[in-house]
Amino acid sequence: MNLLDDLRAALGGSAVLEGEAMGAAPASDMSYTGRSLPRALLRPRSTEEVSAALKLCHAAGVPVIAQGGMTGLAGGSNPSGNEIAISLALLRGIEEVDSASASMVVKAGTPLEECQRAAAEHGLFLALDLGSRGSCQVGGNLSTNAGGIRVIRYGMAREQVLGIEAVLADGTVVSSMNRMLKNNAGYDLKHLFIGSEGTLGVITRAVLRLHPPPGEITTTLCAVESYDQVVALLRRAQSSLGGIMAFEAMWEDYFGFNAEALKLRLFARSHPFCVILESTKPAGTVETFLAAAVEEGLIADALIARSLREAREIWSVREGHPIETLPNLLNFDVSLPIGRIGDYAEACTAAIRKRWPDAHVSFYGHVGDSNVHICVSAPYAPGEGMHEVDAIVYGVLGDYRGSISAEHGVGTLKRPYLRFSRSPNEIALMRLLKQALDPKGILNPGKVI
Ligand code: LAC
Ligand code: ZN
Repeated sequence: MNLLDDLRAALGGSAVLEGEAMGAAPASDMSYTGRSLPRALLRPRSTEEVSAALKLCHAAGVPVIAQGGMTGLAGGSNPSGNEIAISLALLRGIEEVDSASASMVVKAGTPLEECQRAAAEHGLFLALDLGSRGSCQVGGNLSTNAGGIRVIRYGMAREQVLGIEAVLADGTVVSSMNRMLKNNAGYDLKHLFIGSEGTLGVITRAVLRLHPPPGEITTTLCAVESYDQVVALLRRAQSSLGGIMAFEAMWEDYFGFNAEALKLRLFARSHPFCVILESTKPAGTVETFLAAAVEEGLIADALIARSLREAREIWSVREGHPIETLPNLLNFDVSLPIGRIGDYAEACTAAIRKRWPDAHVSFYGHVGDSNVHICVSAPYAPGEGMHEVDAIVYGVLGDYRGSISAEHGVGTLKRPYLRFSRSPNEIALMRLLKQALDPKGILNPGKVI
């Protein structure tokens, strides 16, 4: 194939891998739904090499997928078999941390945790944080507009970006490496690439916004008797403790399953809801707040982590690895108005159990950000059967005006349901943008729209 020879000539032979040399990683993200390896895997080392590769693929009309740490959950970077995958892994490193403007310049393939550490070494704080911090790459975080556990205080990945450099389908490099918080000189082009999952361009570098370090964090676990009280606790904590650092709720079935598997007995009895509340206020202040909340009957019980080990123990229930062992497990990521999440959870559970009476259905997640994750384990038929579960979960969601994707993106898995959350005019505008930026349709085809 001429294209691969041309790519070898442009990038060097060792940057173009085929067959077994690619390993298994490029076949699937962490949704484990990818079944095919790409036609070849490129490992460019610079923006210029990404540009050269795209120029050649564009001329040949061959589809291209950008791949980062492959930690996505929506199938957004899975190949269908005929694409050339571009791994950003060798575009790695921090180019600069600028204390004066509280920003850092990073290459797209840098693992998130490396960026967090570099910011901390300069006395600053990168607010983006998620469970896969060690293996996800910042380019992937931005192209999916990742969420995570600090959104309630600092916003989504989008809010942590001042500037972006991206390569368009035809190899054109658009450098928009802005460092100012305010810059209204025309369209804000970075938002074309943030959250568009590699369908409009390949992100190669970014200027990230940094914050002052939040200081010591007090981690607590609260036992709550009703969903209305979960919401009341959120609002009370926000007004009494100031900006809180995390607010994660777990429904009884989720908390109980994981706590039991991890042999952690954190409360004397089980409660309908457990909430992780993190604050930057000192433990004493948080304790007074919680005591008053117990006194008033807002919460049933509470504990404060007295060490990093205890905080990790609490988070280990939330991270929920034991639940991943349930057969046929599907994990959903939806958002809906905070006040309606409790009712939605009940309606969704009832609808799934109507179809599979013994199904495991449990809820957890970033409730403070209007985002809840759903675990479903049911004896649906392998393969196509999972769409039956999708149809129930998203069908009920429609009644509540929720979104089929809060933070994981659309990828391939949610593409059939985009119309549940976007109007025909919104989808038409997305197509218009896609057509304008990628008229040959070579960038991550079959994803999002
Ligand atoms: C989490 C992932 C599933 O919040 O988004 O754990
Ligand atoms: Zn999440």
